[in-house]
Amino acid sequence: MKKIAVFTSGGDAPGMNACIRAVVRTGIYHGLEVYGIMYGYDGMIEGNIKKMQSLSVSNILQRGGTILKSARSEEFKTKEGRQKAFDQLKKHGIDGLIAIGGDGTFAGAKILSEEFGIPVIGCPGTIDNDIYGTDYTIGFDTALNTALEAIDKIRDTAAAHDRIFFIEVMGRDSGYIAVECSIGGGAELVMVPETKTSINDVVKSLKSLRKTKTSSIVVVAEGDEEGGAAQIMEKVKNMINDEEKDFKVTTLGHIQRGGSPTGKDRLLGSRCGLAAVEALIEGRTNCMAGIIHDQIVYTSFGDCIGKSKPLNPDYIKLQEILSI
Ligand code: F6P
Repeated sequence: MKKIAVFTSGGDAPGMNACIRAVVRTGIYHGLEVYGIMYGYDGMIEGNIKKMQSLSVSNILQRGGTILKSARSEEFKTKEGRQKAFDQLKKHGIDGLIAIGGDGTFAGAKILSEEFGIPVIGCPGTIDNDIYGTDYTIGFDTALNTALEAIDKIRDTAAAHDRIFFIEVMGRDSGYIAVECSIGGGAELVMVPETKTSINDVVKSLKSLRKTKTSSIVVVAEGDEEGGAAQIMEKVKNMINDEEKDFKVTTLGHIQRGGSPTGKDRLLGSRCGLAAVEALIEGRTNCMAGIIHDQIVYTSFGDCIGKSKPLNPDYIKLQEILSI
């Protein structure tokens, strides 16, 4: 292994820069040449590949986003696209890859490494925290804290006007942000894709909460089966049919994806980046470097993609009990 390349793909996540920095510096430390691929798989196909030095990653640790940019590539899903990508890697003499991203990124990495035999190691980068094989993903902690800051502010105004707020957080298929920010932010109710909560249940709970509380916060993960926060709010409002009660919706959206990474995300990104380079040197491939119980663990891409990471039922119970 002499030349390795690193790229970020899919949704960006705070802490990806810390991970890139760790890959570049660990690679150089071990005597490797390190390259950065711009715009994920699209950049690989186009040969948008540049040599990185230790200084190329100076002053990026504290920045959100990704200095290597990101994209979701349609062309890479085709065999021809992957052939072009591999030809570019060969042209640049790259003999190992590090992919930072979520399950879509790992699905691409798995097929590339199986088709062309190039070793690939992944680092879990997504705010959704929905990757099997790691307790937390890079970016989740920052997104959680961004959501909490917003909930705290909304609670002030909700309480001042005795209103019911529906706050939509990210999570197309996963309720990690929703559940953890509901606990930390003291939300009265949480709705996530992993568990079924009917509109009837929400109406019943809100009516019962009105006996003790004048305002309420319902956190909705964007992928909930009843719809987004706006749709759910309309359905609930029609069923409660209370002229005096004010209902409001706030969608937090992409602010959850940006911002300076928390200490936890910087540490996680740095540890996974170092572990990924060392895995390539040791001859590993087709797996992700994650952290479970504070230890580096390598999990096959097949498991990362194929196995689901269920929400901790203790967290759901905690949220329910503490919101009465
Ligand atoms: O990064 C994951 C995620 O934030 C999902 O929760 C969300 O649905 C999706 O990305 C949206 O990403 P984009 O707007 O980049 O398509």
